[in-house]
Amino acid sequence: MKTTRREFLCVTSLGLFMPLASQVYCNELSGEWKFGIIPDTQWAHDMEAPFHGTAIHIIDAINAEMIRQKVDFIIEVGDLVEISSEIAFQTRALHNKSILNAGIKFYPLRGNHDSIDLDSIKQFKNAFPNLPGTKGNFGSSPNLLNADGMTYSFTHKNGKFILLDTFPLVDDGSEDGKFYEIGDYQDWINAELVKKDHEFAIVFAHKDLLGQNHKDNVFSDNVIDQDSLPEMQNNFFSCLQDNNVKYFICGHDHMYHRSKIKSPNGKAQLEQIICGSAAHKFYLPKPPFLKRETTIVKELKRIGFMIASVNHNQIKLDYYSTKKFGEKPATPTWELRDSYGYKF
Ligand SMILES: [Fe+2]
Repeated sequence: MKTTRREFLCVTSLGLFMPLASQVYCNELSGEWKFGIIPDTQWAHDMEAPFHGTAIHIIDAINAEMIRQKVDFIIEVGDLVEISSEIAFQTRALHNKSILNAGIKFYPLRGNHDSIDLDSIKQFKNAFPNLPGTKGNFGSSPNLLNADGMTYSFTHKNGKFILLDTFPLVDDGSEDGKFYEIGDYQDWINAELVKKDHEFAIVFAHKDLLGQNHKDNVFSDNVIDQDSLPEMQNNFFSCLQDNNVKYFICGHDHMYHRSKIKSPNGKAQLEQIICGSAAHKFYLPKPPFLKRETTIVKELKRIGFMIASVNHNQIKLDYYSTKKFGEKPATPTWELRDSYGYKF
């Protein structure tokens, strides 16, 4: 790559004079922009701190690093709180104050802990209003009852981000309510991905394609058969692959785990990133593991988050983590533990 005189001066100043200021200057010159991804922040209710089942001190510490790294927005992949309630979601939202003041937007998904009952829909919307896909706001949601702002997509600069809610959204008279399956969203996902309004896209959900610990997944709660609904899985994998989606990013498992996963019919492949834990809770991998998954990187029992950097036609994903903390305010030292990406 050809280096201009201004870029050269910038590069040479990185190590010699003001590293942080120069790096920001370099980013502005290069056109680089960033976004953050925060994993599950649920915290047990029976612990004295943090409060209302959300890991406030971990959230605050991660937010400080997101602000320092100048991300444009943050996506949280669900399980914001231990047990969904008005006060729990409001407490989680309150700890977005620092990022919102810095002009950083927040795009959450619900997880299973965020959907204890159907009241959680209203509570979630009260705490996180005006999400993409809701009336009068940008972005898109599937044309399905109550899916607006719960399952949604939005574009930012040259990227598209699709967030899938797979938890109960409709009171159909059943005990838990009706949730939409990935198959219900498939036409909308395809329509969003074929639009010419982005150069790369990433798909997010709370549950995994295949979990390391949890054997319920984004397609099914059947913990015995992770290959259940194979046609639905095949269609989803093929749709993403055909539309150049490389990454499926999820939570639920409270560990960092990056792997390649083939569709049940073996015709398509995605890279899955279980993006870590931002809470006191950690799970360990447990069999069975399917042969169609190949682990690339794994890290257990650390608190972490991710930052993606986009520079023209390149995306780089960095995973940072630190040792366990969270019962009181902290300024942890974050270590870069995984870094990868691709050109689109
Ligand atoms: Fe979960």
